[in-house]
Amino acid sequence: MRRDIIIDTDPGQDDAVAILLALASPELNVLGLTCVAGNVPLERTSYNARQVCELARRSDLPVFAGCDRPMARGLVTAEYVHGDSGLDGAPLPEPVMPVQSTHAVDFIIDTLRAAAPKTITLCPLGPLTNIATALQRAPDIAERIAQVVLRGGAYFEVGNITPAAEFNIYVDPEAAQLVFGSGVDLVVAPLDVTHKALTSPEWSATLRGKNHPICEVVAGWTEFFERFDTEKYGSKGAPLHDPCVIAYLIAPEIFAGRRVNVEIETHSELTRGMTVADWWGVTDRPANALFLGSIDAAKYFNLITNRLAQL
Ligand code: RIB
Ligand code: CA
Repeated sequence: MRRDIIIDTDPGQDDAVAILLALASPELNVLGLTCVAGNVPLERTSYNARQVCELARRSDLPVFAGCDRPMARGLVTAEYVHGDSGLDGAPLPEPVMPVQSTHAVDFIIDTLRAAAPKTITLCPLGPLTNIATALQRAPDIAERIAQVVLRGGAYFEVGNITPAAEFNIYVDPEAAQLVFGSGVDLVVAPLDVTHKALTSPEWSATLRGKNHPICEVVAGWTEFFERFDTEKYGSKGAPLHDPCVIAYLIAPEIFAGRRVNVEIETHSELTRGMTVADWWGVTDRPANALFLGSIDAAKYFNLITNRLAQL
């Protein structure tokens, strides 16, 4: 039985790889891409999402534009990581397919209301603004969502945009607080797991060795965005963050984590967006998330390579 998913995204090279992995996986049925402002502004994320669909020859897949700024703060973007386009590293043609006229939040609400309960999984890969806005506008959808598997947060790995916070949560902490407090069945892929999934020159060479146009593009994206993280962390490769969400849906057995309470800091400017995970159960706060902590990186990259080469 294929699993219906909606990918909420701010492409971003790693988002793009996640989208390609999902489109290459027969276990998943992508109902649509809902775009949010994050790595780059919304205009660009919805443009990039359409480029990725056409790269995968899926111009039939509906792409929706959502929120262009966080719920209660100014937008913070990350061109310093992803380049001005958000997809630097591999030139792609202008997209021909349109962005849908329906707002992404309305698509999320309407699709969940029209589907049988607990049949759609939401896969946010960027700031949680669209997801939180949908829950705020239509609280009834919370019990209709099968699961939310999101890319965000950090605990033992600490922050990447501030010492305390990971980018997706930092950009819209109020949205994250609403999602983490909504009672949905939540799986979180924090930096604690993505920082164990590092790209490498060997992986890029494997991709290029496939002599496959999509693998070639992914190698170009990888070699672009890893320059920032290798410099910052002094590592050989960079964390390939967002495909962890899709890989979890396909092969959960390559991950391990713990169900814990996770709260979001929204008041302090010093720790804004921190995901405070009660990993050792020192509070009586109820567990609200499966917080992933480890990954079999070899199986992860093999999965991605093998699936992309079949696209
Ligand atoms: O912190 C990394 C996350 O922020 C990734 O999802 C990246 O695409 C950006 O959205
Ligand atoms: Ca992202």
